[in-house]
Amino acid sequence: MTIIVTGGAGFIGANYIFYHLNQHPEDRIICIDKLTYAGNLSTLAPVMEKENFRFVKADICDRTAMEKVFSEEKPDAVINFAAESHVDRSIEDPSIFLQTNIIGTSVLMDCCRKDGLRFHQVSTDEVYGDLPLDRPDMLFTEETPIHTSSPYSSSKASADLLCSAYHRTYGLPVTISRCSNNYGPYQFPEKLIPLMVINALNGKPLPVYGEGLNVRDWLYVEDHCRAIDLILRNGRIGEVYNVGGHNEMRNIDIVKLIVKELGKGEITFVTDRKGHDLRYAIDPTKIKNELGWEPETKFADGIKKTISWYLEHKDWWEEIISGEYEKYYERMYGER
Ligand code: NAD
Ligand code: DAU
Repeated sequence: MTIIVTGGAGFIGANYIFYHLNQHPEDRIICIDKLTYAGNLSTLAPVMEKENFRFVKADICDRTAMEKVFSEEKPDAVINFAAESHVDRSIEDPSIFLQTNIIGTSVLMDCCRKDGLRFHQVSTDEVYGDLPLDRPDMLFTEETPIHTSSPYSSSKASADLLCSAYHRTYGLPVTISRCSNNYGPYQFPEKLIPLMVINALNGKPLPVYGEGLNVRDWLYVEDHCRAIDLILRNGRIGEVYNVGGHNEMRNIDIVKLIVKELGKGEITFVTDRKGHDLRYAIDPTKIKNELGWEPETKFADGIKKTISWYLEHKDWWEEIISGEYEKYYERMYGER
């Protein structure tokens, strides 16, 4: 199979490329990435020289560029990871989120439409909005209504609706996965876990929003990658699959765990995120029953592996935090 993977220089896309080429060395992957602030070519160094891998720097909203790659490569399938992915940045300025996450997805599906190519959309549990903190019995199923909170989640939900429309109207063979919070190697340091690890290592305060009581459902990135690969191969066309590992944790408990593991880090409570979703929790029954997917990495092991990775890959994140991120950090958290 020849597969186009968009957003492969980012966190989950890169982990997916490594997973896929390891599991299916007979496949060819073409990574399309615009290399925004969140994309890092150095992340892809381990696969760059492989014969069955090609990197193309391009914007998924650029129709001409997309049509060129599709006609050159004649792919069998497309997995769309490319997105603006950070909620706080979407609150600062929604416009690029609408452009990449909605328009970009439609351009890719238009390219697939001519030849009826298989299209998988990497979506998020955030499209369901949030759940109350005091109702542990409530979980997101695939039937939970879309009910978004942030410009980010609204743009992802819009893309999901377009995917369903392309399936129904044009018969495009589409699947959608909606995953909970991922963690693991190569995650950009604007996100909770790498931000806290790096700040603790650098002797900076650990900024917890509000009282730190919001709950997220954490999944090790490789488990997400395995789910996507299974859906691509065996998922039912036109279906949505929720992906999550029943691993709900309060933000404050995650941050305290990081402090304990590193033996350092000073927690500080800062102004809450606007419209901050209270709790996410996925019911993964459908993907378990239909595709036999279950998470393999327990959080206790995954977080240790992740912290060790950041300790061992200072070069990777030091380069990142000295670039555009420095200005973003100042806007968000004040001077460091
Ligand atoms: P990321 O921000 O780390 O990476 C995004 C990548 O997309 C970057 O390499 C960036 O350069 C690229 N990109 C952005 N705009 C582009 C454009 N216009 N054209 C081409 N490339 C572009 O994101 P991530 O955390 O790896 O998330 C990947 C996908 O998974 C996103 O669609 C996100 O919505 C979804 N998701 C993320 C999580 C999570 O916890 N991180 C959970 C569920 C779903
Ligand atoms: O649920 C899936 C989503 O998870 C993905 O769709 C998004 O792309 C991804 O960014 C992530 O969104 P969150 O907003 O949940 O992740 P983030 O790491 O930004 O924040 C996790 C929680 O930690 C959230 O409740 C806000 C809080 N937080 C975050 C930061 C950056 C803090 O308390 N302090 C911080 O500095």
